[in-house]
Amino acid sequence: MRLISNRLYFDYNATSPLADSVKEFVLKGDFLFGNPSSSHTTGRQADAVVRQARQKILQIFELNEADYKLFFHSGATEGANTVIKGYAKHKKISFFYAGTDHSIMSGIAEELASEGHAVEVFHPDRHGQLLVESLIEKINLKKAQGYFPLLNFTCVNNETGVVWPLSFAMQIKKETGAVIHVDAVQLPGKMDNWHKLLAGLDAYTFSAHKFGGLKSVGLTIYKKDFSFAPLLQGGGQEDGLRAGTVNVLGIYAAELALTSLRKLFDANSLQTAKNYIEQNLTGILGERGEVIGYHSPYRNLNTITFLIYGKRADSLMPAFDLSGMDVSFGSACQAGQVRPNKVLLSMGYSEQQSLSPIRLSFSPFMKLEEAKFFFKEIESVISRFL
Ligand SMILES: Cc1ncc(COP(=O)(O)O)c(C=O)c1O
Repeated sequence: MRLISNRLYFDYNATSPLADSVKEFVLKGDFLFGNPSSSHTTGRQADAVVRQARQKILQIFELNEADYKLFFHSGATEGANTVIKGYAKHKKISFFYAGTDHSIMSGIAEELASEGHAVEVFHPDRHGQLLVESLIEKINLKKAQGYFPLLNFTCVNNETGVVWPLSFAMQIKKETGAVIHVDAVQLPGKMDNWHKLLAGLDAYTFSAHKFGGLKSVGLTIYKKDFSFAPLLQGGGQEDGLRAGTVNVLGIYAAELALTSLRKLFDANSLQTAKNYIEQNLTGILGERGEVIGYHSPYRNLNTITFLIYGKRADSLMPAFDLSGMDVSFGSACQAGQVRPNKVLLSMGYSEQQSLSPIRLSFSPFMKLEEAKFFFKEIESVISRFL
């Protein structure tokens, strides 16, 4: 049974515990401390570790070194800001993002709009699915007006687990020529074939703490012929894309975590475990609630977001917490006030319903036996509200 500090932790989309391989490495305490920019032996040793991590990560994602490079940074927030704002630095762009995207994107959009770029937010259907044809039309319209289009494409939604297949992004790329930045933060360990990135898209951004690495470490894989300006000025590290002394320990841990995830992840086993919880959950909810995105044809393997009609998340949340379970509100909470979940609003849910989602996001290694136990615990809380 996977208990973390005696809690049942169901919030893997927020962050994950360290991978066992990373824990072992950290416990050894024997780290390379050299600065990869130094030309002496200690520096060169550290540089070799970073180079190897770059190569291995590209191999894991099945992308060719002839076509792609990657740079490390402090996480997806920085990676997305660098790529999108860096592309907009010398061009008049039109930035397309979804109402279901992480709040990074609305923040960037606001800044770009204030600088005179065009920005456009689009919304999915009620099940969270992307409306590909209408997006293609919108992008081509802006292109015809002389803008350089850039689309942020979140392939796995962090709040609902709804998946937008990368093949959709490829179709958009082919039919519009837009630059496509993929927010791939929720991909590793949450879908079958999560490691098969498609060659042709411009950039993919990840955060290591979502897949068993350390916090404040991330990476962006980008096409060699895609150019963008750096966010920071300084020592020219990471091919000039990310100034600042390189975090060798964090980068090595990210490589370790991804390598073990690739080796150990079993999509069928996770699917079986998740299905057990979801089928039983929909059974007890009946007409009194729903699983968000349930009817979407593409969903990930670790996320179940549900609501009970008329019950606010802030009434269920303390009950889960007191029963030893860490679940996510699925709604923004500021100064004790729950606000409607913007992802649900974007999908067309009412303000009232958008106050209710509870997100359960599970370990990539959850097994059926654990799922059976978890469901009993989850049911014991939910049944009090039905
Ligand atoms: C889909 C998605 N994108 C981006 C981020 C931002 O990641 P970080 O906070 O590590 O920068 C998150 C984090 O929750 C996320 O889920």
